Amino acid sequence: MRNGKVYDRKLTKDITDIILKAAKKAKRETSSEPEPELTKPLKWPIKCLVGPGLEGAISCETKIGYVNGAKGWLIYRGYDIFDLCAYSTFEEVSYLLLHGDLPSRAQLEAFNNKLIQYRHPLETKRMLMSFPIEDMSAMAGLRLGVNLMRLECTVADEEAYKTEHSRVISSDEDSIPMETKPRGEEKAIYEFIEKRKKKKERTAEAARKLPTGIESSYHLISGTASIAAAVARIKQGHLPIEADPKLSHAANFLYMMTGRKPTPQEERVMDIALILHADHGMNASTFAAMVVASTLSDMYLSVGSGIAALTGPLHGGANEEVLYMLKHIGSPENVKPWLAHKIAAKEKIMGFGHRVYKAYDPRARVLGPLSEYLVNTGTDKEAKVLFHTAKTLEKEVLASFGEEKKIFPNVDFYSGIAYSSLGIKPELFTPIFAVSRVAGWTARVQEYLQHNRIFRPRSMYTGRFDLKYVPMEKRGK
Ligand code: CMC
Repeated sequence: MRNGKVYDRKLTKDITDIILKAAKKAKRETSSEPEPELTKPLKWPIKCLVGPGLEGAISCETKIGYVNGAKGWLIYRGYDIFDLCAYSTFEEVSYLLLHGDLPSRAQLEAFNNKLIQYRHPLETKRMLMSFPIEDMSAMAGLRLGVNLMRLECTVADEEAYKTEHSRVISSDEDSIPMETKPRGEEKAIYEFIEKRKKKKERTAEAARKLPTGIESSYHLISGTASIAAAVARIKQGHLPIEADPKLSHAANFLYMMTGRKPTPQEERVMDIALILHADHGMNASTFAAMVVASTLSDMYLSVGSGIAALTGPLHGGANEEVLYMLKHIGSPENVKPWLAHKIAAKEKIMGFGHRVYKAYDPRARVLGPLSEYLVNTGTDKEAKVLFHTAKTLEKEVLASFGEEKKIFPNVDFYSGIAYSSLGIKPELFTPIFAVSRVAGWTARVQEYLQHNRIFRPRSMYTGRFDLKYVPMEKRGK
């Protein structure tokens, strides 16, 4: 292995213990039988009761992951999320999601080497820096970066259309409106290039660089972290830094973002956060990525769509909003009046509720105690206040309507406190989500493409049929 070493697990035993304790509590409070109606092979077409926002709709079969919303249970490829957090790494989980089984030592080593090799999208970073990233939202910067990666890492745009110089159409200067002073060039300075499709050679190298294959998933899992870190650096007024091949994916990501090598505890917390966010059923961003892929577009454009969908505050963008909300509340004493006002105004509380979970989100079961651990072992006073405000808010929401309506903290409620304790700014919380979810997006796209059918639901037309076209002058004001 080139390296990519994970910390010595003995150094983070107390973190493992926190996860095992959370797992025990989850097992005590929930039972873990799968729902028979959501875990069987289907004979298409099927009947299902569909609500607005496609609630209840089944769009495909999958072997990648399962969310038991009634029990609060999350499974990747048959493995319980608590076990993966306690014993695995993000690299191993990504392999598992993509390939279906836990890797052997040799398979993990080869996979790791690829991820390390692909940590250097240099051309992408160079191109990225020619855009005003500092003025863009971090998610917009990340999405742009992923689309630029398509240029660097694939043959999608470069090889398919090659200029044939014999077919270049030169225009004589007289036929062009001159906007600049003629500089006396011998030949026409304006050349219209007729792009002719060249037969692409299907060499092994070209196949490797196709924007749909497994290699593109490796590029994206590795490169999204590098780009998110580069965006973070640029937005903080620094230059992006080189990856360190000696570090694990989580440690390197933190290092490239902050410029500081993380402690084993910080690395472990980031690793667990990446594991927890890696896949989650047919959520909006996964669905967006799959819809784009189902048109036989490609992996980079699909992941770009996933990033766009993840950005919104009802989805991944909630983690950033939660932190602003907690800061706005200010302290545990302010929670009650603040919540009463929110309830009266019928406004949603960020970081609570879920379309699928009608039980405590298992990811929040891990992230809550983890953020408490970071707050208690750190010296950041503000983080302590944020955590205690969050704990009080959880208690009050559950007591006033949460238990009754089955609205519990979701993955985004505590993650931001953990990231803040690692010194990460709120605008980077959702990019971290994307850096992890790219494993699920690519795995699900790869799986769906094996039996692809373009997504194409219908809408119910409730408009009018009987109107006659009215000319502009007769339309009134
Ligand atoms: N605060 C207060 N009430 C809520 C909340 C909330 N956060 N979430 C749902 N409800 C209520 C809602 O008012 C409605 O009540 P009623 O039936 O009395 O009208 C009921 O619960 C059902 O809500 P919904 O909006 O129809 O539920 P949904 O399945 O369409 O939306 C959701 C799911 C996650 C968008 C929603 O719970 C929400 O907006 N939460 C806040 C944003 C958030 O934290 N998002 C992160 C989701 S988890 C991670 C991820 O996907 O990225």
